[in-house]
Amino acid sequence: MSKLPKLFDPMLIVGTETSDDAAVYRVTDEIAIIQTVDFFTPIVDDPYTFGQIAAANALSDVYAMGGDPKIALNIAAFPNCLDSCILEEILAGGADKVIEAGAVLAGGHTIQDEEPKYGLCVTGFVNPDNLWKNNGAEAGDVLILTKPLGSGIISTAVKGGLASETEAFYAIKVMTTLNKYARDIAKEYRIHSCTDITGFGLGGHALEMAEGSDRTLVIESEKIPVMTGAREYAQMGLIPAGTYRNREYTEGKVESHIQGDWLEDLIYDPQTSGGLLLAVHQDDGKELLRRLAALELPSTVIGKVTEKQQKTLVLK
Ligand code: CO
Ligand code: CO
Repeated sequence: MSKLPKLFDPMLIVGTETSDDAAVYRVTDEIAIIQTVDFFTPIVDDPYTFGQIAAANALSDVYAMGGDPKIALNIAAFPNCLDSCILEEILAGGADKVIEAGAVLAGGHTIQDEEPKYGLCVTGFVNPDNLWKNNGAEAGDVLILTKPLGSGIISTAVKGGLASETEAFYAIKVMTTLNKYARDIAKEYRIHSCTDITGFGLGGHALEMAEGSDRTLVIESEKIPVMTGAREYAQMGLIPAGTYRNREYTEGKVESHIQGDWLEDLIYDPQTSGGLLLAVHQDDGKELLRRLAALELPSTVIGKVTEKQQKTLVLK
């Protein structure tokens, strides 16, 4: 990415510099547009469910900026040799999530390709004063995670034919749940920074927040909510390849006190459509957590933000 030209426009509030979840462009003093695109290959067998997951994942980057999704466009690739009913099912799953988000699906584009791919290009709105960036964390902030971790590990176990139906079903539940509901509650509190947990895992995205904010994030690893089965499968070595890349990427920047590899594997486990990582004003942490407890998925305090220490990320 460093070879791309650096473009400057004073209205571009968030661009490529901070590895944030989406681009943000100021239109007026009250309205900025949030723009994001995300698509990938199927991670579950059922096409409708795949569509739901891919759409929830793409919409999430708008929620991670504190915004409301408004317009979505499908982006899809599909092979000639497969029945077009499958593509229809994928698109139907995506459309249902767009409707749930309160946005409108306004078209899209499909190309022919050997492997199916699906996702969305999403435009959202936010008041620039209420924008959540991934680089605003302050010392003393409480860190809250709004979904359990382990979707990469469980997906690997599903592919290996080892995960139980209940475990697979729960992972799908987590991945198809919109971050809208957590965002709706959180926006009533003093959120200093936010990002969603996706491909770089909790470790990678927490590091981005810490580096961007020029602070250290301290994670109490034992407090991280874990999907049922993820510990067992991680201990069996069912680790997605991305985990190792994610860990490598953070090398030299992490102080880890973790005993037992599985917990580190979980922290670097690449998530699909993971939860929000919120850095909230310390006086608001308790009340926000109490409110989030009304949601179906568990939210947990997983650590805090401190002034910058020797290492950017501390895993306790
Ligand atoms: Co994101
Ligand atoms: Co994204």
